[in-house]
Amino acid sequence: MEIRKVGVVGCGLMGSGIAQVAATAGFLTVVREVSQELVDKGFRAIEQSLSKLVEKGSLSAEQKSQTLGRLKPTIDLGDLADCDLVIEAIIENLERKKELFTELDKNVKPEAIFASNTSSLSITEMMTATRRAPRFLGLHFFNPVPLMKLVEIVKTVVTEPAVVEAALDYGRKVGKTPILTSDRAGFIVNRLLVPFLLDSIRALEEGVGSIEDIDNGMKLGCNHPMGPLTLNDFVGLDTTYYIAEIMFNEFRERRFAPPPLMKRMVLAGMLGRKSGKGFYDYTDPKNPKPNNSLI
Ligand code: 3HC
Repeated sequence: MEIRKVGVVGCGLMGSGIAQVAATAGFLTVVREVSQELVDKGFRAIEQSLSKLVEKGSLSAEQKSQTLGRLKPTIDLGDLADCDLVIEAIIENLERKKELFTELDKNVKPEAIFASNTSSLSITEMMTATRRAPRFLGLHFFNPVPLMKLVEIVKTVVTEPAVVEAALDYGRKVGKTPILTSDRAGFIVNRLLVPFLLDSIRALEEGVGSIEDIDNGMKLGCNHPMGPLTLNDFVGLDTTYYIAEIMFNEFRERRFAPPPLMKRMVLAGMLGRKSGKGFYDYTDPKNPKPNNSLI
């Protein structure tokens, strides 16, 4: 079950990073988006990220050009036919993912492994859209993919042990530390991280501290690289809100319920860094200012 050629479906924030680390590790990587415009946007992000890594000295200019040479853009699912591993990183919508996997199942060789990068949707449900349940699992990467050292390997009750082994090996080859988990909403990391992110918003709502003090508390008191409200802005409030809803539906526990302030911010389009405003104002992105009018 050797993986030589990788397919990545979706070239947004996560898909572009997943494709980049695959190609950097030496895998021939086919990247599929739905339009040429989205392919171009994703490849620009990869190019910029690789340039940053060259600037910082963690990659040579030659490695950068070799990496780009191993990346093949396409808008045709048929180009993934002979991939050994296909990783899906499209929008977090179960129906859309199932439709895609049904199409992939028809187009890609039957012995290929399929993986989803979902952060919270059921791998088992996605697997049912294919005829290759034993060769289906989750490969959950973290943002920003080129820098974060973890990948979660999510097995279902029917994933073949050899497929799990191949995924663990792949995770190591792309420079990550793989951790093994089972198919429960949120897996390991989001099960622990999401209640923490939600609690930081509840702490703000309840007047426990200001935005900056809550963030500094966890940054300086626990050595977290970012405070939780900054991390909410970094991940995107809409993304975390959506994950929390899925987890709340699965477990029915208050700790997974999105707090009212979060819902209102999402409705108002205050999604964090990507929309320019969240718990901080990013008008000057290098110098975010706390948005103290929220409470
Ligand atoms: N590619 C290459 N370089 C990148 C990059 C990328 N994609 N993204 C950022 N960088 C660069 C930055 O440009 C910066 O370069 P510079 O020094 O020349 O400006 C450098 O990396 C370091 O960035 P920072 O100066 O901001 O310094 P940090 O040391 O804080 O590193 C960080 C940034 C790695 C993002 C760090 O703050 C961090 O680890 N934050 C926590 C991130 C986290 O928790 N991610 C997980 C989110 S949860 C998730 O993904 C799960 C999902 O299901 C929700």
